Amino acid sequence: MSDQPTTSSRTVANGAQAQPPTIGIGLIGGGFVGRAHALALRSLPLHSSPPPARPELRILADASEQLAVSAARDFEFAAATEHWQEVVESDDVDVVVIATPNNLHRDIVLAAAARGKHVVCEKPLGLHAGEALEMYRAVHAAGVQHMVAFNYRRVPAVTFAAQLVRDGVVGRVRTFRGRYLHDGNIDPAAPLVWRHRKAQAGAGVLADVGSHVVDVARYLVGDVRRVTSQLRTWVTSRPVAAGSAIRADVEVEDEAALLVDFDSGAIGIIEASTCAPGRRNHLAFEINGERGTIVFDYERLGELHLYLASDARQVQGFRTIRVGSAHPYGRLFYPNDAFGIGFTETKVAEWHDFLGALVAGQAIAPDFYDGYLANLVVDRALEAVDGWATIEEEPR
Ligand SMILES: NC(=O)c1ccc[n+]([C@@H]2O[C@H](COP(=O)([O-])OP(=O)(O)OC[C@H]3O[C@@H](n4cnc5c(N)ncnc54)[C@H](O)[C@@H]3O)[C@@H](O)[C@H]2O)c1
Repeated sequence: MSDQPTTSSRTVANGAQAQPPTIGIGLIGGGFVGRAHALALRSLPLHSSPPPARPELRILADASEQLAVSAARDFEFAAATEHWQEVVESDDVDVVVIATPNNLHRDIVLAAAARGKHVVCEKPLGLHAGEALEMYRAVHAAGVQHMVAFNYRRVPAVTFAAQLVRDGVVGRVRTFRGRYLHDGNIDPAAPLVWRHRKAQAGAGVLADVGSHVVDVARYLVGDVRRVTSQLRTWVTSRPVAAGSAIRADVEVEDEAALLVDFDSGAIGIIEASTCAPGRRNHLAFEINGERGTIVFDYERLGELHLYLASDARQVQGFRTIRVGSAHPYGRLFYPNDAFGIGFTETKVAEWHDFLGALVAGQAIAPDFYDGYLANLVVDRALEAVDGWATIEEEPR
């Protein structure tokens, strides 16, 4: 946070309210999710007047110099570099945003913490839980603000589902069935990218999108105590580049099914697949409580389905709740109830809460410890594939 008031943080004359502080942002990674962060940071003041802080886009790094320059220009960052170290070392940067392949998260976090920078890091936090714990300890010791970007907690319908559970509306949760399915890995002619390499990704679908379900499960139901799993790699090799006849092995799984025990005694079933035809971004869950059921599907993210056993029998059934101004983030996203939201808004909500907590000096969740716990469930699930009882039938 800049100590000196800048033009935008000076009290405006004529008795107008003091303006929120300016916060310098350094973004590392100008790919898919880097763009989503930039979109969210730029649009936050348009959603929230005034925003908790005014993010100023100071410097963007990407290993591709060409992309660094074009992304900085298009996203309206003041400077570009191909060296992430310049972002971490810049005096203009208060918050470092890490949107690179997973294998770079650790080194950037440790360097940022050593320079006293606040950090927002994409998921999964580490390549494995050991890295994630080291990262948590570094930011904790440095006393900086830290958040892992599990943005699906901040879909208003998911935040509202958590409120319903917390308020006991469906009673004690017995079962959580959660899944994240898409079809991005179906085409065997699509080239190998960093997500298919163990050294860069850490693990496959379970770390990539499964970690979102683990986080949502922890957010809604609590900590996971035990896990067993099944894993598959359906597409085992890919061209090394688009159109190439040379193929290389895919080193990580593209399908995972987990059975988990929560601390609370609830049972969890978690699935993740990038080979599910027809699914595009199917992060979905069903929670069965003692007195009701909650159902959510990101592919219809403006809706939450609720069944309450206490309803009169003649009218029992699932009601479809249209999420809007009466719900979490209602003031941020719904000037009226007519219009919907999308992926970018989950990132806007993330930044709204992160900057608000930073300015107020409050903790934010999910922090790096939450990121570590998600990594830990993924690690243990990858180790747990052998926990099976075999069916051996007598012949007919
Ligand atoms: N929260 C979400 O919903 C979500 C969605 C997608 C990706 N992610 C996470 O975000 C991260 C990035 O994923 P992506 O889909 O944007 O990947 P991407 O491949 O689209 O972009 C990654 C970018 O990082 C750059 N990069 C690589 N090495 C670098 C280096 N040494 N220094 C600076 N830049 C470097 C690449 O050139 C590329 O532009 C991953 O950790 C991923 O798991 C999160």
